[in-house]
Amino acid sequence: MTWLPGVLADWRTRGGNSEIDLVLGPDPATDPEALTAFAASALAADRTAPPIAEVKPQLGKPGWSDPPDFEFHLLVCTGPRCAIHGAASFTHMLKEELKAAAVFDRCLTTRTGCIYPCNRGPVLALYPHGHWYRLPNRAAARRFVQTVLAGGGTADDLRFHTARAVRRDPSTNPEMTPQ
Ligand code: FES
Repeated sequence: MTWLPGVLADWRTRGGNSEIDLVLGPDPATDPEALTAFAASALAADRTAPPIAEVKPQLGKPGWSDPPDFEFHLLVCTGPRCAIHGAASFTHMLKEELKAAAVFDRCLTTRTGCIYPCNRGPVLALYPHGHWYRLPNRAAARRFVQTVLAGGGTADDLRFHTARAVRRDPSTNPEMTPQ
């Protein structure tokens, strides 16, 4: 609700159909009755949500121009097979663990499509280390966050792959580079 009205307004002014009357309602995920109530109010023309036509067109926040300053890039697979292994809730739980270990602001967490080792899901790739991990449950995720990210150590039993560039030139791995 912060940025979507501006994006829709931008679409209206750039080749979208400006004749369509767009109004944003409440998130039905937070209230099962919300969609029905919103549809009824829209049909009765007694809306409380502002029409998109009154919103300034913009594609995002002004600050969305530069990458965040991060140390760890976590690529978390949410592809279809990892999803069956619980990847959707895994991402949420991982962010909780990052906050609890006070490393959330050092991480850029990106949800990806399938990155191939589906049978090991849920999987996560950590860069610039080039290490890939299988984190099957909360205990494993917590140990990964506390040991690898917060502690600067290793969790070899959770790691199942090292990227070719790091295998070929270990000095590219910050874990192996003398500080
Ligand atoms: S679906 Fe996650 S690795 Fe394929």
